Amino acid sequence: MYKKILFFLSIATIHLEAALENPLEYKAKEFSYLIGKTRFKDDLLNMHFQLYQGYIKNTNLLLTRLKELESQGKELSYEYGALKRRFAWEYDGMRLHELYFANLGGKEPINPSSSLYQGIVKEFGSYEKWKQSFVATGKMRGIGWVILYQDLKDNRLINTWIDEHDLGHLAGGEPLLVMDVFEHAYITQYRLNREQYIDDFFHAIDWEIVEGRYNKPS
Ligand SMILES: [Fe+2]
Repeated sequence: MYKKILFFLSIATIHLEAALENPLEYKAKEFSYLIGKTRFKDDLLNMHFQLYQGYIKNTNLLLTRLKELESQGKELSYEYGALKRRFAWEYDGMRLHELYFANLGGKEPINPSSSLYQGIVKEFGSYEKWKQSFVATGKMRGIGWVILYQDLKDNRLINTWIDEHDLGHLAGGEPLLVMDVFEHAYITQYRLNREQYIDDFFHAIDWEIVEGRYNKPS
């Protein structure tokens, strides 16, 4: 009898927790399948996954606190302004990590007959010239991201430097290939050798994913 009561209580708790779960909360995506699929060591990737989860937690916290302040009529408070300014940093940190991890894990080079490859050749002259530009952008001093953006308005391809997570994005652009060059992305495995990290990143690109993000010109 006692065991039965405990069983029903545990079921009731699970249902209650599910009911209390905020459906609007962002949830972490699973990238552990990358372990062993790239040249990045397990420790480096696991630490990076943890950092990624921190951005999700803080994005949810910020949205919750901003709504609380709005419900209290405190939109003009210093706290509200400070949190609003912080939001894009946390949110972009979440989304950019998802794009980054998702474009890892591949084994095959870019397909020369793909629309993306043709677009790269049209914009940069050759794949090698595009890569040279992307790598050079990644070697710039500072922390941030390198993104191959597609300008959807004029169908151009642009290698872009993003300061931190939120400064330098192209309005209305489609991020195709995303590379993390924050020090946490490489320093525990590569020390200050960012060049080797970028080289290993290129060996890990999943070009099918990147090509899937490309909007084919009509
Ligand atoms: Fe990162």
